[in-house]
Amino acid sequence: MAQYYKCPKCDAHAKVIKPGKGVLSCCGKDMEPVLNFASPDDILDFAITREQEAHDFYAEWADKLDNKWIREVFRDFAREEEKHRDVLSKAKQGGTLKPSDKKITDLKISDYLIDITPTPDMDYQKALVVAMKREYASYKFYSDLSETVSDPGLKETLTALAQEEAKHKLRLETMYEKEVLLWD
Ligand SMILES: [Fe+2]
Ligand SMILES: [Fe+2]
Repeated sequence: MAQYYKCPKCDAHAKVIKPGKGVLSCCGKDMEPVLNFASPDDILDFAITREQEAHDFYAEWADKLDNKWIREVFRDFAREEEKHRDVLSKAKQGGTLKPSDKKITDLKISDYLIDITPTPDMDYQKALVVAMKREYASYKFYSDLSETVSDPGLKETLTALAQEEAKHKLRLETMYEKEVLLWD
């Protein structure tokens, strides 16, 4: 499979047609390698592990958190990440997930918030930030990966999963906007 690099500043992607000795750069910065996999099954296995980890994170913290509202939100997200894992398992048998034509709004709230390390007593606001950051990372993971594959079915599935994670982020950002920003 081809090697891809992305610009950390403008998000441009570059495909390496013939590897050389130099360093790729864009916007004055070294470009970063996008994950490289040997086969579509490798991609799917890696993504399955990520979804399982996402499920485990939400399920574990849903039990640990003091705040009952955020516990419910985390339980819901745990179920959704489990569904993503199953979509990817089916993709290994040739199943595909179709992306939607609708553009998912990006409220960009999480872009301006700093990372938070989860603690059992974290409040509603902090838990939302932790989840938003995770969902943004998942969205980027699928959207970057979808640019690197040529198989049309796999590309569609990865694009659809990027949309799912963008929807998760939007849901959390909407909650944050309504229940944190407007209450301040
Ligand atoms: Fe997911
Ligand atoms: Fe998610």
